[in-house]
Amino acid sequence: MDELEHLIDEARAAFEQAADVARLEQVKGQFLGKSGALAMLCKGLSSLPAEERPKAGARFNDVKNAIDKLLAQRREAIQAELLARKLEEEKLDVTLPGRDAGNGGLHPVTRTLERVTTLFESMGFDVADGPEIETDYYNFSALNQPEDHPARSMHDTFYLAGEHGPSEQYLLRTHTSPIQIHYMEANRPPIKVISPGRVYRVDSDATHSPMFHQLEGLWIDETATFANLKGTVREFLRRYFELDDLEVRFRPSYFPFTEPSAEIDMTFKDGWLEIGGCGMVHPQVLRNVKIDPDTYQGFAFGMGLDRLAMLRYGVNDLRLFFKGDLRFLRQFS
Ligand code: PHE
Repeated sequence: MDELEHLIDEARAAFEQAADVARLEQVKGQFLGKSGALAMLCKGLSSLPAEERPKAGARFNDVKNAIDKLLAQRREAIQAELLARKLEEEKLDVTLPGRDAGNGGLHPVTRTLERVTTLFESMGFDVADGPEIETDYYNFSALNQPEDHPARSMHDTFYLAGEHGPSEQYLLRTHTSPIQIHYMEANRPPIKVISPGRVYRVDSDATHSPMFHQLEGLWIDETATFANLKGTVREFLRRYFELDDLEVRFRPSYFPFTEPSAEIDMTFKDGWLEIGGCGMVHPQVLRNVKIDPDTYQGFAFGMGLDRLAMLRYGVNDLRLFFKGDLRFLRQFS
């Protein structure tokens, strides 16, 4: 029996020395294999006298179970060591913040555009779009501003040569008024439309950018009057700024495509602030799009969309809108 006891110690020591599972399996054979130590002892059982056999057999089984258990323990221990080593080697700091794409947001001018569009739609206006690259005809001539007209000097812009050379000249539109012409060519009165969009001028300072946004309004029917113009513009501005006591002033001015014409001023802080231009559509403009000025009349107005955004959000430099600086833009999303 001492021999069996000794075998357990031997197995424990041998298993302990096996550094990995493969080695452990080899060592296992020495004890539990077909020709291993236990198998040899088992053979010896048959030579014992019959009355001793049951006791010796039970003892033998105990030893085998003990060795099995040692083997299983060592196997687990090796696996645990392996895992611990792996975890140590592949250390990963799960507390480091992940890299995500970040949330986008709408540009403040886009937000303003959406708000303005919704307000005008609620007042019964259609919304129209038009090309940013225009011909001289749509940007100037059709709007009663012939080639040598001095008012053109206020609308210096960027010119592009056409496909057939410089004689065919294109330009970046200087205002959204050409959309009026496109719209009136395609639609007959009654007309009630706004047309927001990007416009271009050779201009750059804190309140002027070479690219900016305008909002044009046009209302043509048999009876539209200057009183309707005043009411429409005032109603829009009051709703946009959410100020019921906002006042609007119409200051006589000149535009080739409207007669009479006026600048639109609104109350701001302690004074007046210019917010756009307007007037009754010039009969010649109506004639240019084959609308009879003896039957139809109406008004147009134009406002700076960026100016509306600046006032609503309290931004003092127009250029901030177009720099793409996320520190600025994030404040609106
Ligand atoms: N188109 C004019 C401008 O850009 C503004 C305007 C629009 C004036 C409509 C009167 C009527 O200066």
